Amino acid sequence: MPGEFIETTGASNGIREMLSNAGYSDKAIQYYLEKPYMGSLSNADQVSEMTGTCGDTMAVYLKVAHGKVTDVMYQVMGCAGAISAAMAAVDLVKGKKIEDARNLEDGDVFRVLQEIPVKKHHCIQLAVKALHKTIDAYQESHHPKNPKASFK
Ligand code: FES
Repeated sequence: MPGEFIETTGASNGIREMLSNAGYSDKAIQYYLEKPYMGSLSNADQVSEMTGTCGDTMAVYLKVAHGKVTDVMYQVMGCAGAISAAMAAVDLVKGKKIEDARNLEDGDVFRVLQEIPVKKHHCIQLAVKALHKTIDAYQESHHPKNPKASFK
């Protein structure tokens, strides 16, 4: 009977259906289920954290070589929107020059995700802001605007 096969795929299909009904695209759901860049980097050049107004927190692990983003991982204590946005953000900046990665905008992430619920758009902002904060901190520690300040 066809029903006998439901159990084997039940869990992820159930989540898929729930997220789809809530307004997430297949692409966003795929990012959420696969979480390809979720975790930490032991050799990160910069780690920064940001907490959103919703109370959810993200830590971004950034690895840079020769002025390019070579690796990024996110630790996300947050919702499905936050996780899918963070994963999409990594795909957009990996391999890019650090300056170009800093120019990432919410709209770029939204276009990759295609669709997420309107009330989850702030989750994209959190993922992007957390990345900006991490890149700024990296730039500041590696290329201080006022180098003399470090001799104080
Ligand atoms: Fe907080 Fe999505 S509800 S990041």
